[in-house]
Amino acid sequence: MAEPMAAPEVQVVADPAAAVPLLLDALRTAARERGWLGLATGATFAGLWPALAAELAAGRLPQAQFTHLDEYLGFAPQSAGGMVHELFTACPPFAALWRAGRFLPVPHDGSPAVLAQHEAALQAQGGVALQLLGIGRNGHLAFNEPGTRFGTGFHVAALAETTRADARPRFRPGEPPTHAVTSGLGTIAAARRLFLCAFGAGKAAAVRAMLEGPVGPECPASLVQRHGRVVVVLDAAAAASLARVR
Ligand code: GLP
Repeated sequence: MAEPMAAPEVQVVADPAAAVPLLLDALRTAARERGWLGLATGATFAGLWPALAAELAAGRLPQAQFTHLDEYLGFAPQSAGGMVHELFTACPPFAALWRAGRFLPVPHDGSPAVLAQHEAALQAQGGVALQLLGIGRNGHLAFNEPGTRFGTGFHVAALAETTRADARPRFRPGEPPTHAVTSGLGTIAAARRLFLCAFGAGKAAAVRAMLEGPVGPECPASLVQRHGRVVVVLDAAAAASLARVR
């Protein structure tokens, strides 16, 4: 008989800073395997970057190679507001890793040939060993908005209005982009381990839908219920709507 699938392991921590040592441990473990370490952007991970920069500067992740989830369409690495720009600014060692071929940026050009090449580059070097994830308040993962089919690869996605509203401060005085290149739900599900963080009351409803709602495209993050090797780290506010006490 097949082994029952392990439910996501949920940990509630005092505050986002308390998640940083857990994230570093997961990255150190995954860096010993073949494959990529998949980063995620957004405020959720702001505390990780100084700690990871120190880790890299001290040479403690000598083999690690990094990639990430998504990029606004047309935003080259040097474009402020972009995801690669965010990562290079917050964690300066990534720029040198990029030059050394150990940081693979998500292409800002959404053409199918370029995206297929990106997906092939991930596979050629062992796939994604560990994928860090945040969650949108509408339950999105990366830029896979509600309604996105499970099983897709990298593609160009139209951003939901709540996603654009959340991104607006980042682009002021301009307007947030309408489209992004995103890792698909199939690509995310293919990562050998997932590590999702959510903090703050604004994420509570999405966290409940992810862990206790039906599995399906209406809540893209619900795919964590089917993965089998998932850690979810929450603060008390993000965990507040869960029916099951953890
Ligand atoms: C963006 C990103 C997601 C991220 C989410 C939450 O839309 N594409 O990958 O998880 O926002 O962001 P934050 O961490 O800022 O709440």
